[in-house]
Amino acid sequence: MTTIGVLGGSGAVGRVVVDRLAAWEPGGRLRVGGRDPRRAAAACAQVTGAGAEPVRVDLNDDAELRAFCAGCDVVVNCAGPSYQVLDRVARAALAAGAHYVDAAGDVVAADALCDGHVPGLGDRAALFSAGLMPGLSGLLPRLLAVDGPPPSRLDVYVGGAVAIGPVSAVDALLTRGPRFGTALAAWRHGAVVPNALRPLRSVALPGFRGRVHAWPFLSAEASRLAADLGVDELRNYTVYVTDAIPHALAVAWADEDAPPERHVPAVVAAAEADLAATGPYYTMLFQAVHRAPAPGRARRLVLRTPDSYALSGVVAALAARDVLAGRVPPGVHFAADVLDPRRTLTRLTGDPLVTGVELT
Ligand SMILES: NC(=O)c1ccc[n+]([C@@H]2O[C@H](COP(=O)([O-])OP(=O)(O)OC[C@H]3O[C@@H](n4cnc5c(N)ncnc54)[C@H](OP(=O)(O)O)[C@@H]3O)[C@@H](O)[C@H]2O)c1
Repeated sequence: MTTIGVLGGSGAVGRVVVDRLAAWEPGGRLRVGGRDPRRAAAACAQVTGAGAEPVRVDLNDDAELRAFCAGCDVVVNCAGPSYQVLDRVARAALAAGAHYVDAAGDVVAADALCDGHVPGLGDRAALFSAGLMPGLSGLLPRLLAVDGPPPSRLDVYVGGAVAIGPVSAVDALLTRGPRFGTALAAWRHGAVVPNALRPLRSVALPGFRGRVHAWPFLSAEASRLAADLGVDELRNYTVYVTDAIPHALAVAWADEDAPPERHVPAVVAAAEADLAATGPYYTMLFQAVHRAPAPGRARRLVLRTPDSYALSGVVAALAARDVLAGRVPPGVHFAADVLDPRRTLTRLTGDPLVTGVELT
């Protein structure tokens, strides 16, 4: 019988991982971990199908983390802040002989894991960035590069209005510096070009409500995607429905010596202000300019969801399934590099958290 550990399974992302895996793996066992056993028990109570067992575990306690991972076939980590947790859970999972899937993590966590020997990696897979962004943002644009030569240009717009909890707010505040990406940069002819783009103010974009602000940020994931596909140019924008979040981040980053926790309430409040402005929605828009346009070759993909956190949970659950099914090779990977984009989109299209998909 398969045993899946979901660490942080009572959180915004983790609850959905638990829900989907319980439905998809009805014969399996789910171990739902967190520091508050009542929240973990509530997450277990919401599911039918697989037997779900709440487990009290603090990931900062070596013995508790070891016990949580022991006997798992795969450990899915949705506990954060991810950029503080880094490779801690991955190492414990691999040492216990389990595969590892991380709803977040990005380059900093994968680099931490790859820095030196990784006990237990062997034939196991460790998958980082198995969420929406990073994750789907680096995977789905690949569907615009099939059936012909790579597009000459790819534009990515991801954003909307969604509640941000304190844990994710810390990660948002820590998303700065060259290992995460470069503001205002574009990818051109194989290199990061600084100051290539300007913010787009009050623009109308397909799939977004009303007018939005789009901030150029060439993420590490976007650079990898551009290099992988061989596009001449890639522009990557984070989309905000008001100035509230960029303002909160700017104020926090100006406060150089402050710990990120000091500015968490402001980021959480900024996200609430966005929600009040438009209601909950999140859109991923990918647009390609093809060198060789051909009838039927897709140039645009739009995906809509009411909740990017919950949808990240669906992606992490899909990734865990692919790992368990042997569809991911052993080693340390980013989800966007090893999941199948068409298969993933097909699965997402049938999920109630995806309220629209247009591939045209
Ligand atoms: N890739 C993406 O697109 C994407 C999107 C959204 C979020 N994320 C990332 O996903 C992670 C979770 O975000 P969220 O919004 O779901 O957070 P959340 O709602 O606050 O949930 C956090 C979960 O982790 C548990 N947890 C926290 N600290 C823990 C610890 N020390 N030991 C064990 N469990 C602990 C919490 O339970 P207890 O409090 O009971 O311990 C809870 O179950 C964050 O790192 C976030 O950055 C990624």
